[in-house]
Amino acid sequence: MQPINESLSVRGGHLFIEDCDSTELAKQFGTPLFVVSESHLRSNLRRYKSAFQKCWPEGQVRIMPALKASPVLAVRQVLSDETCGCDVFGPGELEGALRGGVSPGDISVNGSIKDRSIIHRAIDLGARIVLDSPRELELCEEEAAKLKKVAKVMFRIKPFMSELETKSDFLPDLDIREMTQLIKYGVPTSEVLDMGPLAIELPHIEPIGIHAHMGRHSKKIEVWQSWVRHCVLLTKRLSDLMEGWVPRELDFGGGFPSFPDRDTDVVLQGYEGPSLEEYAKCITDSFRAAMHEVSLDPTGITIEVEPGRGLHCDTGVHLTTVRNIKEETENRPRRWVELDTSEVFLAVPGFNDEPPFDLVFANKADQPMTITADLVGQTCNAELLFNQVNTPPLQVDDVVALLNTGSYIEPMAANFNALPRPGTVLVRGNSAELVKRHETVDEVFARDIIPDRFASAEV
Ligand SMILES: Cc1ncc(COP(=O)(O)O)c(C=O)c1O
Repeated sequence: MQPINESLSVRGGHLFIEDCDSTELAKQFGTPLFVVSESHLRSNLRRYKSAFQKCWPEGQVRIMPALKASPVLAVRQVLSDETCGCDVFGPGELEGALRGGVSPGDISVNGSIKDRSIIHRAIDLGARIVLDSPRELELCEEEAAKLKKVAKVMFRIKPFMSELETKSDFLPDLDIREMTQLIKYGVPTSEVLDMGPLAIELPHIEPIGIHAHMGRHSKKIEVWQSWVRHCVLLTKRLSDLMEGWVPRELDFGGGFPSFPDRDTDVVLQGYEGPSLEEYAKCITDSFRAAMHEVSLDPTGITIEVEPGRGLHCDTGVHLTTVRNIKEETENRPRRWVELDTSEVFLAVPGFNDEPPFDLVFANKADQPMTITADLVGQTCNAELLFNQVNTPPLQVDDVVALLNTGSYIEPMAANFNALPRPGTVLVRGNSAELVKRHETVDEVFARDIIPDRFASAEV
């Protein structure tokens, strides 16, 4: 057996996900197919928990996985079984978290333009609301009063990292400190400084904490040190305006790199980032030091983080089947291997100079790569998923596995060419369960309405 990562190995020339032969999964459930390893996910979550708990004896640690990264309910159920919180964006994800077994009190309702109905629902459930604007504070007070309840709120701040000159990995011409200011999310500092004092006056509001999410601009430790310090400096300004209020919880958001860190939308790639354990140390050390700098006591404060890709990415594999092979031997010799997946299922561009995923030829994993071919997807787009890659000799019905597809891919799948979106299988040991069935063509058109006036028209 040759291990690839914690859940993947090659056994007898076949790719195994835990103890399941991926080619059998492809046959049994059909492709294209998302597959998630339950044991791998549990192990990743435990690693986050223990990394932060070890470095933060002063208080509790809460891991709040971002549902957006993998909103498959059974996948969330695995995390709920491990007892952790959940960061959600919008009413759909709020319902998803509940259906995925998250206790309402462990949910943070994040996101911009929260309307009255989501605020009402969140307060009624006892979920925490991460405020993104002064209007949301007003709505919280009004809806909590109607419900005769108290709204637990956190302020989503956008600290200005004044001294930080590091550039963003997304757009290496731009400073992170500028980008975190120019982007829409979070309460503008000038507004949050008025909101804080108002919040402690409002009878139906309980400010419980501070929230900040920078996004994954950089893996560099100096950036995280600055982010955490400036979160604390701004918290101190709020505290002074709020009669010495100190947050019970501080959430530093997500943005930790995935394993392996190969996001196609990141321009600056290829430099080593810190390990998860080093991040945990950096965040907790910086927090402790900054609290002392501003003479606030960090004892008893709960530290939260909201990993998305860092938690899910390497737990997922996408299986696809070779449906056809074409070869040009005149003019411009070229070979195309046509797969039953697509760029629209995989959240990647239509032209990929570099392979967007690591590949394993699932039933020929130990065969020599003697052929060069384009691996292309099935829509009418150019679909150049893998440009001139080495493959073993392939034939129709061979199965190809794309690795590290566990985050932000399944939820981004689209219906271009009226294609039904792929289902998801959850693997645990040698058992495999369909946890999201494949979409049907009827479902693709289920929302369409043809006005009655066409009924009599001659076709
Ligand atoms: C508020 C919030 N928390 C957490 C995350 C997760 O980020 P990542 O997947 O980069 O860890 C996001 C992603 O956009 C977010 O907006």
